[in-house]
Amino acid sequence: MKFKYVCSDCGREYDSTDILYRCPECSDTSGTDKDEMQKGNLITMLDKEYLVSLKDRKSVTPSDFSPYPIPDITSYPVGNTPLIQPKRLIGETGYTGLLLKNDGANPSGSFKDRASQLVAAQAIHFGENTIALASTGNAGSAMACAGAAYGLDIVLFVPETAPKAKLLQSVLYGAKVIPVKGTYDDAFALSIEYSKIFGGINRNTAFNPMTIEGKKSVSIELYNQLGGKAPDVVYVPVGDGVIYSGVYKGFFDLKEAGLIEKIPKIICAQSEKSNAISRAWSTGELKTIPSASTRADSISVASPANGRMAVRYINESEGWATEVRDEAILAAQLDLAKSAGVFIEPAAAAAWAAFKKDTKENKISKNDSIIILLTGTGFKDLAAVETTVTIPPSIEPTMEAVRKLFNT
Ligand SMILES: Cc1ncc(COP(=O)(O)O)c(C=O)c1O
Repeated sequence: MKFKYVCSDCGREYDSTDILYRCPECSDTSGTDKDEMQKGNLITMLDKEYLVSLKDRKSVTPSDFSPYPIPDITSYPVGNTPLIQPKRLIGETGYTGLLLKNDGANPSGSFKDRASQLVAAQAIHFGENTIALASTGNAGSAMACAGAAYGLDIVLFVPETAPKAKLLQSVLYGAKVIPVKGTYDDAFALSIEYSKIFGGINRNTAFNPMTIEGKKSVSIELYNQLGGKAPDVVYVPVGDGVIYSGVYKGFFDLKEAGLIEKIPKIICAQSEKSNAISRAWSTGELKTIPSASTRADSISVASPANGRMAVRYINESEGWATEVRDEAILAAQLDLAKSAGVFIEPAAAAAWAAFKKDTKENKISKNDSIIILLTGTGFKDLAAVETTVTIPPSIEPTMEAVRKLFNT
C-alpha cells in the first residue's frame, strides 16, 4: 500500500520506500531542554485516494488499512478481541451503552500484540530476520510472542528491575533477553545502538512509527463490532501515549475514508503519580515530569515517548485527560473482576477508574456509546492483587468445620 511519513511536529513529509524511524530534521534533541517532550515522531499517512476507494466496499478489515501486508494471521491471531456488554455494571451505573474491549485476550495477553504484529510484518516485508527493542514489560513479551509465531529473532534489552513475570514470559517465548544494569533509557539507547551495528528492525515504542500504526487496528475492529459505526467515547489508559495515538489514528483513517463522520472523544486515563501527558494537555506546556511511581507499572512513565502527538490528539478528538489515584486503580481492578468477570492488570484498570471518576462529574451522557479499552490481562501480575484480596485460611476436612464457617 502507498503511504508517506509526516512529522507530527514540523509537518515535513518523507518517502516510505526505506525504513524511517524519526524525523531526520527535528528529532535531534542535542542541546535542547531535556525537560521538553521529545519531538519528531512520524505519522504514517496512507494514500488518500486509496482510503476513499474503501468507502465503496461492503465491509472493511484492519488489513485494508495496514501499510504492510499482515503475514499469516492464523499463526499469530492478533485482534478480534471480545467486546463485552457488562450487564451488571450497566445496571449499577445506568450507562446503557457501556462496553468493555478486552485486549487481554490477545496471544501474549496484552494490546501490544497489535504493534508487534505490524513490526513483524515490516521486518518480513524488508527481508529482515532480527528485531531489537527495549521494554519494561508487555511490548517485550508481545514482540517475543510474535517472534515465536513467525520465526523471527527477538533481542530484548530490559532494565534489570523490570517486572519478573513479563520477563519470564519473554524468555519462555525464546527471545534473547538482555537485562541491563541501568534504567529504561539506558536499555533504549543500547537497543538502538544494537540495531545500527547489527542491522534488522528496531521496535522501540513510538521510535518506530509502526508501533503507533499497528495499534490502530482496534478502532477498525470496534467500527465493525458496532455494526459500521464509531462509538461516542473511548477510555484509554496512557503511559507513553502510543496506544492513545493508535486509537486516534484508526478513527482518523476511517474518517478519511468517509466511513465515519466524526472521531470519537478519546479520554486519556492516567495515574496521578504518572501524569506527564495529562499535565501537558491541561497546562499547554509540553514538558516531562521529574519521576513517575504508580503501581500500574505499564503506565509509569515520566518522559513519554509519544507525549506531543498524544496531547495533539486529545485536542483533535475533543477528548480530555482524567487522572486517578492508585487506590482507585486497584479498586477498579477488583470492581471489573467481581462485577464483570474480567481480570485485568492495574494499568488497564486505570481506564475504568477514570470512567467512574468522570461519571461522578457528569462528563458523559448516559446514552453515549462508551468503550473502556482494557489493555492487558491480570494474570501477568498476580502480585498486584495480593494487596487487595487474600486467600482464606484452610479448614479441617469435616462438615463441622464447614458449619462453623457458615455459623450454622
Ligand atoms: C497494559 C498496558 N496498558 C496501557 C499501556 C500504555 O500504553 P502507552 O505507553 O502507549 O501509553 C501499556 C504500555 O505498556 C500497557 O502495557
